[in-house]
Amino acid sequence: MSLYSGLSTLPPDALLGLMVAYREDARPEKFDLGVGVYKDEAGRTPILSAVKKAEARMLAAQDTKVYEGPRGNVEFCSHVEDFVFGADHPARKQGRTLSFTAPGGCGALFAGVSLMRRMGTKKVWVSNPTWPNHPNVVKSLGLAVAEYDYAVGGRLSPTGILDALMRAEPGDGVIIQGPCHNPTGIDIPYRFWTTLGELAKAKGLVVMIDVAYHGFAESLDKDMAGVRAFLDAAGEGMVAYSCSKNFGLYRERTGCFLALGATPEGITAATTHVADIGRATWSMPPAHGAGIVATILGDKELRAEWEAELTSMRERMIALRKALSDALVAKTGSNELAELSNQNGMFSQLPISPDGAKKLREELGLYMPSSGRINIAGINANDIPRIAEILATAL
Ligand SMILES: Cc1ncc(COP(=O)(O)O)c(C=O)c1O
Repeated sequence: MSLYSGLSTLPPDALLGLMVAYREDARPEKFDLGVGVYKDEAGRTPILSAVKKAEARMLAAQDTKVYEGPRGNVEFCSHVEDFVFGADHPARKQGRTLSFTAPGGCGALFAGVSLMRRMGTKKVWVSNPTWPNHPNVVKSLGLAVAEYDYAVGGRLSPTGILDALMRAEPGDGVIIQGPCHNPTGIDIPYRFWTTLGELAKAKGLVVMIDVAYHGFAESLDKDMAGVRAFLDAAGEGMVAYSCSKNFGLYRERTGCFLALGATPEGITAATTHVADIGRATWSMPPAHGAGIVATILGDKELRAEWEAELTSMRERMIALRKALSDALVAKTGSNELAELSNQNGMFSQLPISPDGAKKLREELGLYMPSSGRINIAGINANDIPRIAEILATAL
């Protein structure tokens, strides 16, 4: 008997298990399409050079480790507001926006769902499929999860999304992913964002947009156009922003929670609640990553260097997508696989069954989760012909 004997053992995290199995696989030919991080041509996840320089400057200038306060780094928050709302958005001067440094995009998601719960939300809609941590955060806060169908045959399913959200109740929460949907790579086009904003406003839905891949789809500006169109049409909404991927700051836990409100009074009240949610969980947000981002974005040269590095990550992913899509179409003739080159970001989801994924791993050394998600940014360009050959056996 132990204090802990009432606990059942949870199943291991499938993705982490896959990483261990890949590492321990002694076969000379093996491919890892399962990882969730950006990798360069050499298979590394490098520290960006703008980050290294900003970090050195910061460490030289830093003379205290005292708490920064509940909002964390306010310059960082202001830069992320520039990205999300735009530098001149009138709501900012009218006190209708808020922003808080958060421990990664996940910290921001947690703050947002916690705020929804305090607003009376009982149920949160997530896309089907989605990144598993969305339902995980919702359930961990005691709220119910509902799903809206997101994609069919490698393309967005606007009717799937609208049919579900028409059934949502006023006050329901909805998490919608911004650019580079994880796991499908299928994004919402600009005009549909406006439709969704109008629907959210008409039905009183509490929408949080999860932006984890800003700059990975087309450009910093274009990637945020849909998010802004949604917020303009809805008039209110929340955003969870992550710097893990676009600044390569994964372990520094760097994110921002933002909200736009119809009235300054609403945002003043929401601000006290977000501060209270932070106080009860992480107390004060981590400083290091937000300091790096603020240093980069506040300096012309470092910012230009970061933008160039971001562009080269994006261009590498776009080239790999095209090459893999062409190779898979040549092998299978499938229109669905031709769609891969129209998708965005690190991920795509292939029509491969869990059994198919298991067979690829066990018999041919190609690792991918049972969902069929592949990380395009984990591929070496020279391996594409062989990877396409292997994948085609399961397609
Ligand atoms: C869809 C999505 N949202 C949010 C995140 C947030 O990540 P982090 O908490 O590491 O910033 C990720 C990271 O993989 C993601 O894929």
